[in-house]
Amino acid sequence: AGRRPLIAGNWKMNGLKREALALADALLAGAGGAGGRGELLVCPPATLLALVGERLKGSAIHLGAQDCHPKPSGAHTGDIAAPMLADLGCRFVIVGHSERRADHGESDALVKAKAEAARAARLIPILCVGETLAVRDRGDALAVVAAQLAASLPAGADGETLVVAYEPVWAIGTGRTPTTADIGAMHQALRAELKRHMGTEAERTRILYGGSVKGSNAAEILAVPGVDGALVGGASLKADEFLAIAQAS
Ligand code: G3H
Repeated sequence: AGRRPLIAGNWKMNGLKREALALADALLAGAGGAGGRGELLVCPPATLLALVGERLKGSAIHLGAQDCHPKPSGAHTGDIAAPMLADLGCRFVIVGHSERRADHGESDALVKAKAEAARAARLIPILCVGETLAVRDRGDALAVVAAQLAASLPAGADGETLVVAYEPVWAIGTGRTPTTADIGAMHQALRAELKRHMGTEAERTRILYGGSVKGSNAAEILAVPGVDGALVGGASLKADEFLAIAQAS
């Protein structure tokens, strides 16, 4: 339905200043000629946002963060608020990544609060959902992930102020991916769930796939109906891989 693909790189906890600038420069050099329909986004760790943001300023590559706090300011040592990210030039922020849900015990309710804080700061939350291998093997993936989405969906979002990312936990960093049929079925289930909450805006909301996306499988995955881009981890740290994914969009 005319949704422009989003190719998002999640650098996770990787990179010092030199490497980050080299990667940003390589992306800038290649992005123009990369082809593909997709919008490009990089999400460096918080320590690199200002530096990378300066480098990308005025380019077609957007800047995003990997997490935010649910409150706009206050006594929360070590945390980072959404308005601070917006102040650095971020347009997007990932919330509810499975690594944060696992490492920091983030609940659906907290993820929802973070997504709402992001929207209040005029950032677009990239809301991550996905099942564990145990859930997949039990045959419950569609229902469990749809319920996770319903419980973490921010209030009031429309197709321009929300992105959803489906990331099966067992496919992250493992080199394993679901079949294209399974990806398609999940994206269909998630859009149906969005429709229940957002009505026709669901058709305008991008749903990304994430989990072991790389240059060599991107075309196949991005061609699945209902897949509106990719959330890329490991392969986003290599400019040529990330640009190859962009090219496939
Ligand atoms: O946010 C990105 C995902 O967790 C995917 O990571 O591409 O390294 O599997 P990966």
